[in-house]
Amino acid sequence: MSAIRQQSAPAISQTGQFVRERRDGIPYIIGEFWTAKQRQSHSLHEISYRACFKAELPEYFIKRFTKPSDTVFDPFMGRGTTPLQAALMERKAIASDASPLSLLLARPRLAPPAVEAIEARLALIPRTARIAQRDLPLTAFYHPDTLAQLVALKNWFRRRTGSGDFDSIDDWIRMVALNRLSGHSSGFFSGRTMPPNQAVSIAAQKKINQRLGQTPPPRAVADLIIRKSRSLLRDGVPNAPRSRFVVSESTRLGWLKRDSVDLVVTSPPFLNIVDYKSDNWLRLWFADLNPEDLTCTTPANLDQWRSFIGKTLVALARVVRSGGYIAFEVGEIRNGSLPLEKEVIALAQNLPLTVNSVCINKQIFTKTSNCWGVSNNAHGTNSNRVVVLERNAV
Ligand SMILES: C[S@@+](CC[C@H](N)C(=O)[O-])C[C@H]1O[C@@H](n2cnc3c(N)ncnc32)[C@H](O)[C@@H]1O
Repeated sequence: MSAIRQQSAPAISQTGQFVRERRDGIPYIIGEFWTAKQRQSHSLHEISYRACFKAELPEYFIKRFTKPSDTVFDPFMGRGTTPLQAALMERKAIASDASPLSLLLARPRLAPPAVEAIEARLALIPRTARIAQRDLPLTAFYHPDTLAQLVALKNWFRRRTGSGDFDSIDDWIRMVALNRLSGHSSGFFSGRTMPPNQAVSIAAQKKINQRLGQTPPPRAVADLIIRKSRSLLRDGVPNAPRSRFVVSESTRLGWLKRDSVDLVVTSPPFLNIVDYKSDNWLRLWFADLNPEDLTCTTPANLDQWRSFIGKTLVALARVVRSGGYIAFEVGEIRNGSLPLEKEVIALAQNLPLTVNSVCINKQIFTKTSNCWGVSNNAHGTNSNRVVVLERNAV
């Protein structure tokens, strides 16, 4: 059963002042655990996803709780920040998410091909295709030539999958294309629109076009893919033990062995703040995925969230070895008036988990905070609030 341990202070090597206090007997450590500066982490992390955390968060806990070859797991992998960071630190990465899109974004970056192989493959892919009637409304985002290039790419992936030839180079190209579909600069395939992690509707895009007086300019899709590939690969590639990616709900981890994980670093959906289906509709279109295949949980209220997180913690307590850790990040929502970490602490009481501490990383806002797609300090997260749980011996 759970106990609150008088724990020793965590190994804090970062700069800055830390405030330590006890709240209801739980040690809270508040300060700047990792720096708020931009572009601190490895270049392979530079893809966008709603509600992603910065690589420094998993890096901190991986460094503190594991050694090379240990197994690190994230059941809500999103863009794959935890598994990628684990691989970069030579840990074995296992990751899952209810969204198949997550797997498409994360997996290729753990085993990237060389730029030359990407260029050679792109040279083989047709640069135009017939646009089906149903795809014509997408000209709100794309010049017709650009759309024809995207349809040709989609057709290529479909053919390669059908023939069994789809390989890690195709996987990489699809991942980069998914990240360039829409955005606010000329590095994206679309005309100017919202940031890439949150596609607006076609009607909303038409309004944006009207307001900006724009018609989407033509783009060279293959060139932009090569440019982004070079940028992602500029810091090198991981040299990691084999990784594993699975599409799975966090409450159903039967595919993962009991006691097989040394550390979990994760962050679940925070109530219903993000709608992963509607935000990702354009990426789902490109990936030929059916939105109905996304069984993402968007708890409508705190009771639903508690029930969902309770079941997730039961599943995690089974797969983490005794003495292993779970760093469970809950962010800060409703301007800090709803301390979700307290809910996690309460749920852990009935499980073979000991609350080690709550680490609150207070940051000065930087551009990455906009991955929430909301204005800073208004509805987004002001800090990372991480409940650190240790698996008891049973
Ligand atoms: C806060 S995001 C995680 C972001 C991740 N830490 C990153 O850096 O990209 C939450 C993730 O939970 C996933 N998700 C939602 N419901 C789920 C469920 N029932 N089981 C597993 N994953 C789920 C969403 O698809 C989303 O990717």
